[in-house]
Amino acid sequence: MDLNRASAALLLLTLMQLSFTTAAPSFSVDYKHNRFLKDGKHFRYISGSIHYNRIPRVYWKDRLLKMYMAGLNAIQTYIPWNFHEPTPGKYDFSGDRDLQHFLQLCKDLGLLVILRPGPYICAEWDMGGLPSWLLKKKDIVLRSSDADYIAAVNKWMGKLLPMMKPYLYQNGGPIITVQVENEYGSYFSCDFDYLRHLVKLFRSHLGDEVVLFTTDGGSKTNLKCGSLQGAYATVDFGPSANVTAAFEAQRHAEPYGPLVNSEFYTGWLDHWGGHHSVVPTSVVVKVLNEMLEMGASVNMYMFIGGTNFGYWNGANTPYAPQPTSYDYDAPLTEAGDLTEKFFAIRDVIKKFRKIPDGMLPPSTPKFAYGKVTMKKVKTVSESLEILSFSGPVKSTYPLTFVDMDQSFGYMLYQTTLPIDCRKPTALSSPLNGVNDRAYVTVDGVAAGILERDKIITINITGKAGSRLDILVENMGRVNFGKNINDFKGLVTNLTLGTNILGNWTIYSLSIDEAVKQGLLWNTGSLQNSAPTVLSPPAFYSGSFSIPDDIPDLPQDTYIQFPDWKKGQVWINGFNIGRYWPSRGPQITLFVPAFLLSTSALNNITLLELEADPCSTGPCVVEFVNSPVINSTTKYTIPFMRGTF
Ligand SMILES: *[C@@H]1O[C@H](CO)[C@@H](O)[C@H](O)[C@H]1NC(C)=O
Ligand SMILES: *[C@@H]1O[C@H](CO)[C@@H](O)[C@H](O)[C@H]1NC(C)=O
Ligand SMILES: *[C@@H]1O[C@H](CO)[C@@H](O)[C@H](O)[C@H]1NC(C)=O
Ligand SMILES: *[C@@H]1O[C@H](CO)[C@@H](O)[C@H](O)[C@H]1NC(C)=O
Ligand SMILES: *[C@@H]1O[C@H](CO)[C@@H](O)[C@H](O)[C@H]1NC(C)=O
Ligand SMILES: *[C@@H]1O[C@H](CO)[C@@H](O)[C@H](O)[C@H]1NC(C)=O
Repeated sequence: MDLNRASAALLLLTLMQLSFTTAAPSFSVDYKHNRFLKDGKHFRYISGSIHYNRIPRVYWKDRLLKMYMAGLNAIQTYIPWNFHEPTPGKYDFSGDRDLQHFLQLCKDLGLLVILRPGPYICAEWDMGGLPSWLLKKKDIVLRSSDADYIAAVNKWMGKLLPMMKPYLYQNGGPIITVQVENEYGSYFSCDFDYLRHLVKLFRSHLGDEVVLFTTDGGSKTNLKCGSLQGAYATVDFGPSANVTAAFEAQRHAEPYGPLVNSEFYTGWLDHWGGHHSVVPTSVVVKVLNEMLEMGASVNMYMFIGGTNFGYWNGANTPYAPQPTSYDYDAPLTEAGDLTEKFFAIRDVIKKFRKIPDGMLPPSTPKFAYGKVTMKKVKTVSESLEILSFSGPVKSTYPLTFVDMDQSFGYMLYQTTLPIDCRKPTALSSPLNGVNDRAYVTVDGVAAGILERDKIITINITGKAGSRLDILVENMGRVNFGKNINDFKGLVTNLTLGTNILGNWTIYSLSIDEAVKQGLLWNTGSLQNSAPTVLSPPAFYSGSFSIPDDIPDLPQDTYIQFPDWKKGQVWINGFNIGRYWPSRGPQITLFVPAFLLSTSALNNITLLELEADPCSTGPCVVEFVNSPVINSTTKYTIPFMRGTF
């Protein structure tokens, strides 16, 4: 017995020594002294938001290094669920979605990570990051205890969180804190059982030690339904807020612990048809300085905004989608370039922390490759065999995108006119159910555009039996507020005169795959059509080579669309995003250099929805060396064909 006890004591002693010499990394909230503790020492973070999903992987290191050289000791990122689980149970963590590689880069550079895995993230991202396939259950209550929603969340978090666990600070990784949900106090459902479930779920996968937190707009009202026991409550507010009042609101929910602003806005978002948002550097640095002097931990949202490539932008309501650029007037531009805001912020940080020695990576050079002549390939209606991989579906009444198992892009609805419309006859969506924009042709001739919350009726003419083609564009799902159950396509019936239209043939369109496979390339034999004010949606193609007598090419560039109106652009099969210069404020789209080839012709494909500049003369796109995202064009209600 005694011997056993003695050896047990010895073992205990050895263990204690072991834990003394190799103290495990730790991160916690010190409620007594209103601060964070990192490895037992006082810590506060000065952080910046970067969304890996808005920046091509090849640039992650450059952008993170610039953030590190600004004096930040942490970064903050969201994890968009729909980016990683495009269809139920099929996960994608490869290439630009390689989150673990991103976290490893943060660690290697010496940046801590504030992780925001949602499941809902807002972020001006399609459906706030929730996968649209959740809407397969038509009456699902998202962000609540709805059993089907919870089952999907459990499954996703069961995949994601175990992957994140080795990257927690206490396990030797960079992640110091993990957010639960996102600004839940701004959502209508106020379902504490849901929040409690998430906290339990996160703890079950990540352990008891991790610091979980919530964040809400800096007012008591927002914190009421957003905060709960077991997750540290923080606030979000920008430079125009009253700092004292906002932190008082945090104190109301969290009487002790560090002051934290989880989203200090360095800029702001844009919407198509609105002004480009600009937040002056002077107010940003003044309020940043004020918060840092109070000892607060601050995350700047955004430090670099990046790009909504492809179809990833979200929307606000009344329906207003965000443009392709998510530049955000942030200290690093969309292209990762240094701005005066960057240097002014660094000067503030300098007063509180040592700025690392070493080289600050410079802004990258941009190149104007000039004009590229485009050729018309085919209209969308002429390309249905190429674009509809699964073939059409017949349905008496319209089906939505989710009914057709399509998440993004465009679908085509086809039927015939049931009656003679010799006189202009109203084609209408009486319940405002065109989500989001419909390009209407009768027998291949453009007849008008319907638009959600803006135009619910147009007049058309045509004989009974004429073909009616309606191409519907999903312009991005609502990402904020109570309308995030955003079904796409024709979500209610259309009427023609007094008839409900029926007998539809519906085409799911795999445009991205067709572009990648080179199926939409010009055959060179197409006759240009006669000029019209509105043209049917069509594909155009063109190519250009990179000059070989100029060193250091390819470089980043920006593409602009003189005489084009609205559409989607691919370069070498990569979906750059939506262009809409006729509405603005974004005029040019960022084209990162990594997409461009010096050894082969670079291929541009446009899906232009409204114009056909090739019918009136040479039609070009142009590569320029500086961005224009701040030109607010006054737009008028789109043209409706008036020549009957
Ligand atoms: C800011 O809020 C504090 C606390 O609520 C209040 O006392 C102060 O007057 C406010 N300052 C301004 C400029 O409104
Ligand atoms: C449609 O045509 C009718 C009859 O010509 C006209 O009164 C009405 O204003 C037109 N509506 C639209 C939306 O153009
Ligand atoms: C379309 O109209 C039919 C017939 O009135 C109705 O049964 C159906 O529910 C409607 N569909 C939608 C999506 O409103
Ligand atoms: C569909 O077509 C059939 C056969 O032409 C016709 O009898 C029926 O009325 C049509 N239904 C609708 C809703 O238009
Ligand atoms: C562009 O298309 C041409 C012809 O299809 C092809 O040979 C070339 O490799 C493509 N360029 C790139 C960069 O993919
Ligand atoms: C847009 O920004 C550029 C570059 O900052 C500036 O030169 C230009 O005057 C701005 N244009 C508008 C319309 O604000």
